[in-house]
Amino acid sequence: GLPASVRIHEVGARDGLQNEKAVVPTEIKAEFIHRLADAGLTTIEATSFVHPKWVPQLADAERLFPMLDDIEGVALPVLVPNERGLDRALALGADRIAVFASATESFAKANLNRTVDESLQMFAPVVARAKEQEVHVRGYLSMCFGDPWEGAVPVHQVVRVAKSLLDLGCDELSLGDTIGVATPAHVRSLLAALNEEGVPTSAIGVHFHDTYGQALANTLAALQHGVATVDASAGGLGGCPYAKSATGNLATEDLVWMLQGLGIDTGVDLGRLTATSVWLAEQLGRPSPSRTVRALSPD
Ligand code: HMG
Ligand code: MG
Repeated sequence: GLPASVRIHEVGARDGLQNEKAVVPTEIKAEFIHRLADAGLTTIEATSFVHPKWVPQLADAERLFPMLDDIEGVALPVLVPNERGLDRALALGADRIAVFASATESFAKANLNRTVDESLQMFAPVVARAKEQEVHVRGYLSMCFGDPWEGAVPVHQVVRVAKSLLDLGCDELSLGDTIGVATPAHVRSLLAALNEEGVPTSAIGVHFHDTYGQALANTLAALQHGVATVDASAGGLGGCPYAKSATGNLATEDLVWMLQGLGIDTGVDLGRLTATSVWLAEQLGRPSPSRTVRALSPD
């Protein structure tokens, strides 16, 4: 059955912006995150402490993160690939991090310059040190449904890395459809396989990109399975610079519209959120791809 409530993990400021070619001023990012918090989002991924050459858009993490100090009652997780990233995040008082693994070798190489197992080895001390400090750790798992280089990704391959991330000590998983090729039946079979291998649904979040327009359908399939953590990006911003053909994430507005219709409260003020996405689209110079944003915004 459907979960009684859903936690939206907002990724617009990280997954959304990381794909923008023109560098967005740090002040605009800070205002974006403040506006997302004002709209009622309670988990807002803020930025990444990765190598600045790999993701130049987020090279301002040291300046941005302290600008969020006045935001209260909102979790502000940050991406951390290695101990260097963890040091940077902890120095600024981050209390939630995310490591990011891949179900495929091709993407592990492209995104982390490592094999899958080398990247897990890289994460091991990160997760261990984070847990020692009571820092919450999310484990992203990319390419769970398909990979631009390898094509279809076998379920057992995803299950293996998912279990490894939990064994390292991750508090939750986020199953990424990085290039947006999943369909609902595939979502159901992966969730069932994970459960069979002992991964509880309560530890699973879903992260859909909307390349083929399936993100919302896939989300509904996951909700029907009992998944209660859903990643989305305001206005449908997004993509991944290291994955060909990845487009925007599921738009938060589209998700909130569906959840409202299902009677699942999210605490999000859709009007405020839409206004935020319209404002950000003006800053970026192109309209939001979200159908709900377009339907609700005045012309
Ligand atoms: P590497 O080149 O192998 O790095 O990159 P290295 O470990 O060999 O270190 C080389 C140099 O980089 C060293 O400096 C390090 O100190 C420095 P030197 O000694 O040569 O002067 N360095 C760093 N500097 C600052 N911060 C750091 C850091 N780490 C090393 N954290 C690395 C390996 C992991 C660093 C690199 O591959 C990287 O930064 N990758 C990040 C890629 C990324 O952010 N991708 C997007 C996020 S994933 C995603 O979007 C998918 C998701 O949304 C889910 C889905 O949709 O599927 C999450
Ligand atoms: Mg993503």
